[in-house]
Amino acid sequence: MLDQRRLPAEVVYHTYTDYAGVARAIKDMVIRGAPAIGVAAAMGVALGVERSPARTLDELRREFPAICEAIANTRPTAVDLFWALGRMKRRFAELVNGAAPGALDGVRRAMVAEAQRIHAEKRAIDEAIGRFGAELMPQSGRVMTQCNAGALATAGIGTALGVIRCAVEQGRKLQVLVPETRPYLQGARLTAWELQQDGIPLTLITDNMVGHFMKTGQVGAVVVGADRIAANGDTANKIGTYQIAVLAHEHNVPLYVAAPISSLDLTIPSGEHIPIEERAAEEVTHIQGVRIAPDVAVANPAFDVTPARLVTAIITERGVARPPYAESLRRLGEEGARIQDSGFRG
Ligand code: MRU
Repeated sequence: MLDQRRLPAEVVYHTYTDYAGVARAIKDMVIRGAPAIGVAAAMGVALGVERSPARTLDELRREFPAICEAIANTRPTAVDLFWALGRMKRRFAELVNGAAPGALDGVRRAMVAEAQRIHAEKRAIDEAIGRFGAELMPQSGRVMTQCNAGALATAGIGTALGVIRCAVEQGRKLQVLVPETRPYLQGARLTAWELQQDGIPLTLITDNMVGHFMKTGQVGAVVVGADRIAANGDTANKIGTYQIAVLAHEHNVPLYVAAPISSLDLTIPSGEHIPIEERAAEEVTHIQGVRIAPDVAVANPAFDVTPARLVTAIITERGVARPPYAESLRRLGEEGARIQDSGFRG
């Protein structure tokens, strides 16, 4: 894993050889961003099975829930994590139910293959999101994003940044306004770095400049990622997305959410049911280890929920959902499930 805590100053990779290490890496944000967390979760489960000390299928069956539990107890908001766990659990159940007693090594290999399949699928999904979303981007001018919904946050070209990448590839003359995204600075550290590497023009701004740039007509569209989208289209994304959405609405700027079907949580009716992760106070009181505030009470919700009425459209790999989302998302969700059931697995 590329250590995202150290970017852009240092490019450092870590290798993990046990599932507990992968769980820690997700929790500590070595890897972050909803789809990347999902892929890491699948890899973590695969690693747990591959390296398990179990000598029989029964022993592995007994150990398996603890592996999944460790991965689940890392970050609560991004539903991709739970989607990936669900998929790995279903595959495990398929493999062990009715398996021959000596099939342990086959199960280990098949679980690794399933995680690799998820990785490959996620790459293709980003490309599809990018293609659908590019058509919604303006021909030229500035588009705003939030946090980092780029290649670092997924297994491919990114969701929101994938849309921007595809639009630029198609010849649209876009520049990206990148809010720094306090407190963790995913905008300043990661999105700015990614776009710079790709030669896509960007302007870094602080979070409190968003209103000014909207008001002075300098934003043609907003495109953000998502951590969890409820059945009615309410969308949890990095803290600050809600205020950008309110400002975009006030200034008639369209706001697009770009996310894979796996970020839909159709089991919850609205955003009120989305668990919001509260992170450590030090992320607010300190920057890069340097204290910038006295030792006072701190709030650090990592995500906020943007109500569906502020979202112009939701871009997925299956197409673009428009309001009313209860209807359009249900249709896209069903389509996704049908494709998966009919042998996406090959
Ligand atoms: O706390 P993070 O950095 O994991 O939060 C990431 C975001 O909020 C992203 O916008 C979201 O996960 C979509 S990533 C394609």
